Amino acid sequence: MKKLKIIALLLAGLPAWAQTSQPQTGLDLSPEEQTLIVYYAVGGAFLLILLAASLLVMATAISLIIRLNREINPQPQEEQKLSWWERFNQLKPLSKEKELLLEEEFDGILELNNPIPFWFNVLFYGTIFMSIVYLLVYHVWDLAPLQAQEYEQEVKLAEIQREEYLKKFAASIDETNVEPTTEANDIVSGKQIYMTYCAACHGQLGEGKVGPNLTDKFWLHGGDIKSLFKTIKYGVPEKGMISWQKQLNPLQIRNVASYILTLQGTNPPNAKAPEGTEM
Ligand code: HEC
Repeated sequence: MKKLKIIALLLAGLPAWAQTSQPQTGLDLSPEEQTLIVYYAVGGAFLLILLAASLLVMATAISLIIRLNREINPQPQEEQKLSWWERFNQLKPLSKEKELLLEEEFDGILELNNPIPFWFNVLFYGTIFMSIVYLLVYHVWDLAPLQAQEYEQEVKLAEIQREEYLKKFAASIDETNVEPTTEANDIVSGKQIYMTYCAACHGQLGEGKVGPNLTDKFWLHGGDIKSLFKTIKYGVPEKGMISWQKQLNPLQIRNVASYILTLQGTNPPNAKAPEGTEM
């Protein structure tokens, strides 16, 4: 009775203790949650003890059955002396060695034919079984992707994420915050855009045709990256330079503007006379 009382007191005191002692977990737990956790811990401990006790009971029962069995059918003395390790590996006692001897003999060396332990056979046939399961799952029923397919799926996903990121990044670029790029890839993409959309009016080398020369220091609308970006984005429609913001995204405009910057001072042949003011 006294012991029961102590346990009851302890259980009643636990929540109070849990509420007063703030564990340094960094978790913001409410007093109710803390109380719950303590009860769960105590309950878990009880369950563990119960489990251990039932295992013990089971083990005792099994050993009893084994002992009874031995009483009923007594086994040869050697068999009982085997250690658990020898039994685990199905080793035969020394007295039975003669039965295991193989016929052949070489230079007085004799060989024993010990049986393969059960656990080894389980592993061995297990791998064969697994290989059949593997074959069916991966190559016959196609239930799961192969490593190469998994890799491709991940690359595709990463590609989509990259594009999404670039779109977000591109959308954030405008004439107030654009910075010139010197990345080789960006310049190459800028050159491609230039050749596709701009060379007809500004010349293959930027020497100028209908549109002004883009290689000299003279600019009608400014020659820094922000001015270039603005001119390309909004155009100068009344003078024949269209707005490109529908065809090109901000990243592409930045790239082509950066490419134009690389044309500065290249002095191409047949250059159009300077227009605008020197900058
Ligand atoms: C249909 C012909 C045409 C095409 C195509 C064209 N432009 Fe132009 N561009 C012009 C004209 C004309 C001007 C001069 C506008 C003015 O006089 O104000 C001009 C001006 C410019 C300027 C300003 C130059 C300065 O001196 O300030 C830039 C930069 C420019 N274009 C870049 C481009 C880019 C980049 C493309 C391709 C995406 C492009 N242009 C495509 C005709 C064109």
